[in-house]
Amino acid sequence: MELISPTVIIILGFLALLLFFQRKNLRGPPCIRGWIPWIGAGFEFGKAPLEFIEKARIKYGPIFTVFVMGTRMTFVTEEEGINVFLKSKEVNFELAVQKPVYRTASIPKDTFFTLHEKLYVTIKGKIGTVNLYQLTGQLTEELHEQLEKLGTHGTMELNNFVRHLLYPVSVNILFQKGLFPTNERKIREFHQHFQAYDEGFEYGSQMPECLLSHWSKSKKWLLALFEKNIPGIKTYRSAKDNSVTLMQTLLDIIEMERNEEKSPNYGLLILWASLSNAVPVAFWTLGFVLSHPSVHKTIVEGISSVFGTAGKDKIKVSEDDLKKLPLIRWCILETLRLRAPGIITRKVMKPVQILNYTVPSGDLLMLSPFWLHRNPKYFPEPEVFKPERWKKANLEKNAFLDGFMAFGSGKYQCPGRWFALLQIQICIILILYKYDCSLLDPLPKQSSLHLLGVQQPEGQCHIEFKQRK
Ligand code: HEM
Repeated sequence: MELISPTVIIILGFLALLLFFQRKNLRGPPCIRGWIPWIGAGFEFGKAPLEFIEKARIKYGPIFTVFVMGTRMTFVTEEEGINVFLKSKEVNFELAVQKPVYRTASIPKDTFFTLHEKLYVTIKGKIGTVNLYQLTGQLTEELHEQLEKLGTHGTMELNNFVRHLLYPVSVNILFQKGLFPTNERKIREFHQHFQAYDEGFEYGSQMPECLLSHWSKSKKWLLALFEKNIPGIKTYRSAKDNSVTLMQTLLDIIEMERNEEKSPNYGLLILWASLSNAVPVAFWTLGFVLSHPSVHKTIVEGISSVFGTAGKDKIKVSEDDLKKLPLIRWCILETLRLRAPGIITRKVMKPVQILNYTVPSGDLLMLSPFWLHRNPKYFPEPEVFKPERWKKANLEKNAFLDGFMAFGSGKYQCPGRWFALLQIQICIILILYKYDCSLLDPLPKQSSLHLLGVQQPEGQCHIEFKQRK
């Protein structure tokens, strides 16, 4: 029998090696797919998604895929994957959020892609760092108005307390002064529908609306509210300085692109974006401050040294005053670090290489700010509330700490972040200037049910407030 020549053996060996490496390179990350068709690992994942992600990281390593409701979500948890998430041209924000935006606000694909970039740039300009401090006066006035309604003393559930302040303040400033109802029954109705819409938002972003009748009812109620009020929002001018609100500016763009029939839908989307994170962040910040006596004491002393000790005046807060009270801003940022959104997401447009794996196009690439903020490499003693770690951040230059991603990152980082920080900062100053506050319950744990947005409290917590003398 004739032997195979050494040249053929070398060629075959070379081809086998090539195939081996190609296979290795095309190998996807480990995939948790459950056993039910289409639903995949949906049940296990849905029970406590944040914990699921951490357990999967420990078991499968720094990159893994979870198959849920027909969707492949590939989580990246360490440097190389995070770099791809933040920098690769092959991953895309708009493609990742278009469908959830369609499901939650009924904004069709074409309208979304036509308007997204223009609306984003406008929001960033209107409530970004350059124009932000023009809103300080309005924010202070609106907050005084709402605080007056709370009277001289009382006890309230902390989340409800914060909602009673921030719902009207955001609506009246970003949409139209006076748009937020003043009648008790209508206020209750707004609270009830916004909360139902917000609580169901995560499910609403993944499932057809017909399966979520309670949520759908509140969504329709809010859309009808905007439908009725869009003409008023459009023509409103501030009596003080004739300025226009954020929503008015957005409506001009929507109209210019001939999409005015979708104006109420954008109203709903901006309403949700402006309140859904800011309210729980204000809740947790007040909660953390009030449950750390030395931080609480230092903040109250700081407020007294800038504004005086009595709690009765309607103080004005300037940009300079805010600079004299950095601890409050550090507390908000430290709260955001500890209660950060469970995930942010991008869509993979062309296969990307991460570690030894190829993540295929079509996957949703997922990054968890919540878990990233618990990496001791970025944040030593990650579970401890340590506002002073923010001393190192160059906040004057609007830079956060390395690894901080509560507002997302890159081209479409949250355009409302500076407004949110300012609003919560003034809110805390005015509350602690006016009232002596204490918590009547221990601060609740965070709920493990949600991935989207910042973490919600698991239970109730009451605050007692008494006007300072
Ligand atoms: C503390 C409060 C807030 C937090 C933690 C927060 C967080 C975020 C995050 C994580 C994103 C996604 C960014 C990404 O994927 O890279 C986002 C997007 C967005 N946020 Fe915020 N946000 C807050 C407050 C606000 C406020 C007050 C507004 C006011 C209008 C706002 C408007 C938006 C909008 C419009 C987007 C979508 C941007 C786009 O479509 O390109 N946010 N926010």
